[in-house]
Amino acid sequence: MKAYAVGDCDSGGDEWEEELKLTQQAVGAINQLNPKPKFFVLCGDLVHGMPGTPWREAQIHDLKNVLKDVNPEIPLVFVSGNHDLGNTPTPETIQSYCKQWGDDYFSFWIGGVFFLVLNSQLYFDGSKCPELKHAQDVWLSQQLAIAEERKCKHAIVFQHIPLFLREPSEDHNYFNLELSIRHELLEKFHKAGVKAVFSGHYHKNAGGLYKDLDMVVSSAIGCQLGEDTHGLRLVAVTAEKIFHRYYSLNELSNSAEIEKDFMTLMKQN
Ligand SMILES: [Fe+2]
Repeated sequence: MKAYAVGDCDSGGDEWEEELKLTQQAVGAINQLNPKPKFFVLCGDLVHGMPGTPWREAQIHDLKNVLKDVNPEIPLVFVSGNHDLGNTPTPETIQSYCKQWGDDYFSFWIGGVFFLVLNSQLYFDGSKCPELKHAQDVWLSQQLAIAEERKCKHAIVFQHIPLFLREPSEDHNYFNLELSIRHELLEKFHKAGVKAVFSGHYHKNAGGLYKDLDMVVSSAIGCQLGEDTHGLRLVAVTAEKIFHRYYSLNELSNSAEIEKDFMTLMKQN
């Protein structure tokens, strides 16, 4: 937040007290949610410091420290972002990420729902690690074949960079994926029955539809680049539908109100 406030992405990142406080607040809110979440996913850019920059290790250390307070019965799911891997990742930055946070792409099942976590940096710029990019592509095709074959009720993808922000055909910019890769992924996801893709990166809430696929872009616990407030998104998956709404950290401090609001949202749809 300081880096953005002072307009210096590199040397402005020397303070992160504010982010730690906000993350503490988010952790407290998550622990109080009723019903207890099946898991808590951080959609990337876990820290600000890019690979090889000062303060990165200290930021990782401090973030892990705050996340220790998440109720151990709520698993954490980490997604890699451009700040975690670098805008142009290398085998070394990816290896270092995996050592710190676990695999950069993987899948898991919860309650009959199939979840895929992707490394979107390989789609943004895989030029320095073509073999790793290829390996993820092969793996993804296998995973999507599983989703299609098992006709799972829902398949859901998490990746840091949104496929698109509002419209599937919008121009490519820093905050979305390049058009040909975007359309290839959208078609693959749609064919396999993926119903939603959840992303971060934009630091604003946004999203849109591609056929019946819901592209969901959530703002951040930390720095805001738009009019949204520090917050997180609650998601409920029923047999029929995926419900979601972004809440500010302040709203989340009143768990009874949140529960009421979310139930209303589910009833309206
Ligand atoms: Fe990002």
